[in-house]
Amino acid sequence: MKDRRRRVRISQRTSLEDRCNRILRNMEASLTARDRVGIQDFVLLDPYTSETAFLDNLRKRFHENLIYTYVGTLLVSVNPYKELDVYGKKQMDTYMGVNFFELPPHIYALADNVFRAMMSEFNDHFVLISGESGAGKTEASKKILHFYAVSCPTTKILNHVRDRLLVSNPVLEAFGNAKTLKNDNSSRFGKYMDIQFDHQGGAVGGHILSYLLEKSRVVHQNHGERNFHIFYQLVEGGEEDLLRWLGLERNCQHYNYLVQGNCAKVGSINDKRDWKTVRQALSVVDFGESDTEDLFSVIASVLHLGNIEFEADSEGYAALGDRREIHWLSKLLGIPAQVLQRGLTHRKIEAKTEEVLSPFSVDHAVFARDALAKAVYGRAFDWLVDRINGSLANTDSSRKNVIGLLDIYGFEVFNVNSLEQFCINYCNEKLQQLFIQLTVKSEQEEYEVEGIEWEPVPYFNNKIICDLVEEKHRGIIALLDEERLRPGKATDVTLLEKMEETVGGHPHFVTHKLADQKTRRTLRRGEFRLLHYAGEVTYRVEGFLDKNNDLLYRNGKEVMQQSKNAIIKSCFPPSEPDRNKRPETVATQFKSSLAGLTDILGTKEPWYVRCVKPNEAKQPGRFDDVLVRHQVKYLGLMEHLRVRRVGFAYRRKYDIFLQRYKALCPDTWPNWKGSAAEGVRILVRHLGYKTDEYKMGRTKIFIRHPRTLFATEDAFQVCKHKLATRLQAKYKGYRVKGDYQKQKEAATKIENCWRGLKARKERRQREWAVAIIKRFIKGFMTRNKPTGADNREYLAYVRQNYLTRLKENLPKTILHADSWLRPPPVMEEASLLLRQLFLRDLSRKYVRGITEERKAQLVLKARTSFLFKGRKTSYPASVGSPFVGSRVALQDMNAKILQLIQRQNVTYTVPVLKYDRNGFRPRPRQLVFTREAAYLADGARIKQTVRYDALKGVSVSDLSDNFLVLHVKCDDVKQKGDLVLQCDFLFEALTKLSAIVDKDDLIRVVRGSVRFDIQPGREGFVDFRSGPKALVYRAKNGHLTVESASGENI
Ligand SMILES: Nc1ncnc2c1ncn2[C@@H]1O[C@H](COP(=O)(O)OP(=O)(O)O)[C@@H](O)[C@H]1O
Ligand SMILES: [Mg+2]
Repeated sequence: MKDRRRRVRISQRTSLEDRCNRILRNMEASLTARDRVGIQDFVLLDPYTSETAFLDNLRKRFHENLIYTYVGTLLVSVNPYKELDVYGKKQMDTYMGVNFFELPPHIYALADNVFRAMMSEFNDHFVLISGESGAGKTEASKKILHFYAVSCPTTKILNHVRDRLLVSNPVLEAFGNAKTLKNDNSSRFGKYMDIQFDHQGGAVGGHILSYLLEKSRVVHQNHGERNFHIFYQLVEGGEEDLLRWLGLERNCQHYNYLVQGNCAKVGSINDKRDWKTVRQALSVVDFGESDTEDLFSVIASVLHLGNIEFEADSEGYAALGDRREIHWLSKLLGIPAQVLQRGLTHRKIEAKTEEVLSPFSVDHAVFARDALAKAVYGRAFDWLVDRINGSLANTDSSRKNVIGLLDIYGFEVFNVNSLEQFCINYCNEKLQQLFIQLTVKSEQEEYEVEGIEWEPVPYFNNKIICDLVEEKHRGIIALLDEERLRPGKATDVTLLEKMEETVGGHPHFVTHKLADQKTRRTLRRGEFRLLHYAGEVTYRVEGFLDKNNDLLYRNGKEVMQQSKNAIIKSCFPPSEPDRNKRPETVATQFKSSLAGLTDILGTKEPWYVRCVKPNEAKQPGRFDDVLVRHQVKYLGLMEHLRVRRVGFAYRRKYDIFLQRYKALCPDTWPNWKGSAAEGVRILVRHLGYKTDEYKMGRTKIFIRHPRTLFATEDAFQVCKHKLATRLQAKYKGYRVKGDYQKQKEAATKIENCWRGLKARKERRQREWAVAIIKRFIKGFMTRNKPTGADNREYLAYVRQNYLTRLKENLPKTILHADSWLRPPPVMEEASLLLRQLFLRDLSRKYVRGITEERKAQLVLKARTSFLFKGRKTSYPASVGSPFVGSRVALQDMNAKILQLIQRQNVTYTVPVLKYDRNGFRPRPRQLVFTREAAYLADGARIKQTVRYDALKGVSVSDLSDNFLVLHVKCDDVKQKGDLVLQCDFLFEALTKLSAIVDKDDLIRVVRGSVRFDIQPGREGFVDFRSGPKALVYRAKNGHLTVESASGENI
């Protein structure tokens, strides 16, 4: 299966064009090679009407061991009579999944094509294998069966079925085949085998129909022939124990039934080996120990029966000679010896009301014995087929397709031909009729019905012969049956007379009496000749009636009914058909079973294998022209070829053809709206069919060459996969779309729910927010009211908000203390407290962070501020300039002065301008402070000393000048008066002074004029005023006027 799939895949991959080219190349190759190996398909033969050319081709190929040749799809097989190395697994693989014409002809190609046709068309098929005895039919059917067994998909169960199908063959061959003059393994029964396949192509069951076993062989064989193989196999190969148990000896010569042909041993047959095969096969088809015992008991009892001999007793009646055989028969069949004995020597006659036993004559007894042996073997054979069918049966009721293999005895002509040959050859006539109907005749009729232009091919229709044999009331079979009802004694001679009387004028019937002189010489009395489609056969009427009646005396039947052997029991059921009704004759039974077979085959598609026998001697490499020419003729091969050549290889109803291939044309795919015929016309035009390649009939399209169809089929196979992929994609798309739709719906649902949830949440949030805002607004509106339910939250928020903001906007340093965030009303108090706290903290931090020096500086600055802030215009400008310890370093001071004052007492020295008391001339001096007094020094002299306790105060203006007036207590006129000084470091000097003196009101800031004492009792004035620029002069009124630049107000 794997191989098959792989092959299919590979073949799909190769493009259609490639395949067509390959086919053409093959065909061309076969054409060029024709001189050596002939051509593979007779359809390519030129001239196709020449029988000689046909034969030449067949011969050429035969001598090259090319035994297979096609006539279209019909396979001609020539028996090579030697093993050819062309049936291995390798060959099977090669032929799997390959069209005809792509490879050399082979039975596997046919088998594979049948299989694939079945799989793709879902219908039943059969392979009709025909040819005369020994032409290779059975071998061909086995090859086909083998091919299916190996190449069909398998499973464990299927393997089981396959094994059974395969082993059913050796079993049936052992019991139903025999060596004849024509064939060492000649099938002496017709076999139609159905192989059932499930929809995946697995062989799941089988059924066998058997036709007319040549029972006469059980008791009689012509010279050079044998009985059925199983007898020899048992005697030669049977295990010692078994033989002992069956009462048999290992010597065929001991058994009458085995030696009549005088050739129990044949070189080409290995009975011992075959016995083993059969034993093994029986176990595969479910034969248990007791089944095989019963079966071999039956076979052995037939041999024992054959050895029973009769002697005439004193009254001339038959009496048993040796009783040993009876003993064994009794044992093997489980029938009392006495009953057997009576049954073999007497017949039962119904006399009025009672049954009377009438003794046999010796001849009669022999006849009855043989009849019994034939009946036992024949019925056991039918039982065997039933059993095998039971083991092949498929019980599963699902739909199956079948391939039937028909391997039925071929046309037979012996020196002496009897009823068996008559039936066999009649069977072949029927099959030929079927072949004609299915091919030539139906083909021509079809062309006519379809209105296809067509050149009629003459062919021989053998219906006339079939009628001769089977026609009601007038046919030979009817006459045979009639004879047994004839009043008086019916004999074979009277039968012949009757035939001459009734069908004497028939062109295919001749007897000694009716023949012309020339023919008469070849015919004896007591013979009749039929001109069969396959040739003339002379039948000897002797035994016809008996064989046809297949008379088994009732007594014999009754004896068998008593058997304890399970097989015999079931073969001779107690309820045998109505005693008074005559059983159907052999020929009639055969006729109706053939009619049944024709019906079975009529419902299936036919395929043909025509087997040809190259020589009568079973010799390899010998090609007997006359013999083969004869077969070619009667097998209808020439006619078939002619039909093929002028006809069309393939035809199908328009709708079926369109249905299958419509995918190959965009106009017809996926649906064609118009008529099927029109659709097909468009389709084939699209496919590029040439006008001579096809014809349009009334209801069907006819395609001339298989290659055209194969190309189309190949294209379809390729296209099918594309379509399947497309369908798959569409379906997947559809599925995914469905899933997507569902997912989308689900998503929407979830989304809706989620949105609803969110909306509800949002609404709640909004409600909540509205409430909050409302409360906020209300709180805002009532913010100034006492804390209550309305504004509690708002105020808390305000507080928190303020505190948060405050935290982020706190003054960075003490210097930014003014930038305190404005508090909302509710926080005013808290803010204030916080501010104080914070500032205190800041201050503390600041204070902690400053040096002693700086602290001292600041203390002084604070004092300055205390003294001047808001009072003197120039104060703000002075704040930025730091104070220094002294404006004149000690070392820069006059040493004399320092001596006078004592240097350790000097606290501060600053240069000043001193305005004379008279005339107000400015004199540069140094003002020196000590702990006790201030000194005005000029060089090395101290001009004036002002003790602090004598210092009444210091006056400065509120303007931006830098004048100061030191008011001194003057108790003494001699003493100098107040000092009018100008000092660049006014604030520094005064602050230091104030610090030393530490008197609250020491410094006075005055507006306008300052009165001062020039001398005690003599006053002077300094007028301070603002002007366009700084100016100091003595005014006309004798006052010192100090003008400060205006715009420098506080
Ligand atoms: N394809 C074959 N290859 C080799 N030998 C064959 C082949 N076909 C037939 N034979 C030989 O011919 C004999 C008769 O073939 P068989 O099939 O029994 O004939 P049929 O069934 O037509 O009477 C076989 O036993 C076998 O020896
Ligand atoms: Mg055969």
